[in-house]
Amino acid sequence: MALIAPSVLSANFLKLSDDIQMINQSEADWFHLDVMDGRFVPNISFGMGIIQAISKEAKKTLDVHLMILEPEKYVADFARAGAHNLSVHIEACTHLHRVIQMIKAEGMKAGVAINPHTSIQQLEDVIADIDLVCMMSVNPGFGGQKFIPNTLNKIQQLKQMIVAKGSHALIEIDGGVTYENASEIITAGADVLVAGNTVFSAPDPVAMIAALKKC
Ligand code: DX5
Ligand code: ZN
Repeated sequence: MALIAPSVLSANFLKLSDDIQMINQSEADWFHLDVMDGRFVPNISFGMGIIQAISKEAKKTLDVHLMILEPEKYVADFARAGAHNLSVHIEACTHLHRVIQMIKAEGMKAGVAINPHTSIQQLEDVIADIDLVCMMSVNPGFGGQKFIPNTLNKIQQLKQMIVAKGSHALIEIDGGVTYENASEIITAGADVLVAGNTVFSAPDPVAMIAALKKC
């Protein structure tokens, strides 16, 4: 059974409070919060102000995914805003090891996100230090895209590396997760499923979260 992390990017921003309550009352485990800067990815979403507001109502782990350049500049700000998990992109960090230590020093769980073109081998020297790998299964920037099938091979490779290195890192799959493909993603070794469009476009989002939880 995987953890389910609905992505707030697909929520109704005019009625954000209703959607936060819906996730609180559902079987979801985490809130997945996508921060985009219009530079690392071709889209702009929301920042610490929104996350701070969400943190006042949310009763579950706030899993913040930074799709921004120079994330090291904002680590302390996101801690103050209420982030529990903070993931930075490997492609956006010149000194990844240092950023991981900064995240931990702020009392958060440290995550590293990797794009679809980034190989698992690049995680080898940090995997024992981190709590989470956010593996992108679409090119980051937008919700509602199609799952890239090669991700399944990458999950299996990463799982082997995690075991071999004695790491406790969770594998989170982000992008294009549906009710139809959830089982094979979990079978490949995923621990956490992010779901935006699948949850928020469902006629009954609470029921969809419960269905994903049973996959
Ligand atoms: C994409 C984001 C995802 C997105 C997933 O850049 O990182 O978290 O919200 O949305 P779906 O589940 O609709 O692909
Ligand atoms: Zn994300």
